Amino acid sequence: MAKITASVYTSHVPAIGAALDLGKSNEPYWQPVFKGYEFGKQWIKENPPDVIFLVYNDHATAFSLDMIPTFAIGTAAEFQPADEGWGPRPVPTVIGHPELAAHIAQSVIQDDFDLTIVNKMDVDHGLTVPLSLMFGQPPADDFRWPCPVIPFAVNVVQYPVPSGKRCFNLGKAIRKAVESFDQPLNVQIWGTGGMSHQLQGPRAGLINKEFDNAFLDRLIADPEGQASVPHIDYVREAGSEGIELVMWLIARGAMDDIDPAPLVAVAPDATKSVPANAHPVSVKHRFYHVPASNTAVGHLILENT
Ligand code: DHB
Ligand code: FE
Repeated sequence: MAKITASVYTSHVPAIGAALDLGKSNEPYWQPVFKGYEFGKQWIKENPPDVIFLVYNDHATAFSLDMIPTFAIGTAAEFQPADEGWGPRPVPTVIGHPELAAHIAQSVIQDDFDLTIVNKMDVDHGLTVPLSLMFGQPPADDFRWPCPVIPFAVNVVQYPVPSGKRCFNLGKAIRKAVESFDQPLNVQIWGTGGMSHQLQGPRAGLINKEFDNAFLDRLIADPEGQASVPHIDYVREAGSEGIELVMWLIARGAMDDIDPAPLVAVAPDATKSVPANAHPVSVKHRFYHVPASNTAVGHLILENT
């Protein structure tokens, strides 16, 4: 049986990819950003997944206004890094896991979530920047990502976007699907995008540290409560692109409940009670930094225990 062992959450700022690709990661502006990922890079070496189920959003790269799937699962054998205007990033081809992806599609669609099945898709910074942050650049003599990746694209670009609640429940359905796959795979689920940012209009440059930190608190300790927050609150408080954060709820929905002991420390006002038989989730790492380009960078690692 396959198992979801851990979840990783991270922003996906394209300038982070450019800083890495152009050798600027030691510049004073970028140093504190990459320092926040040192723990994760070591952690993932010690906890290597067999497959990553990577929830991200496409930025009008593979999909355009011609066709807008709300949820799209990549079932192909491989996915090329996309050309977003400056040529494709110099990162490896993403190798998929068609067998597990097809199984998840079957299970989740039969569980009443409408997924679009995608057999050909280039992947943009939404997917490649999180991989670069966690794995660094693979060496030239072994130029590949350490494991297969199933891309799962969510529409957070063109309204209407899916609600936090739907995303959270979809995460639960994905977990059920993974756990009914009959190979002993160690699967990580990643939720990416966010945190607060707005790239356009009079409020361009908006950052909201209070909102972001409250989101992190609640994602950890009261994800169900966070899932009931309507999309308009994200847009108002976290900017038009802050809505990318609903994707983190898909990953969180696939994880265990919180351990009641650290609950008090993490979110003193959280009142949610935890069933006695719940297996607690454990917070391995938490990081928050402003600025990175126009975006607040957030990063979390949670393990199922
Ligand atoms: C930026 C952030 C994003 O999420 C994105 O998709 C594009 C640009 C930025 O901060 O510059
Ligand atoms: Fe984005």
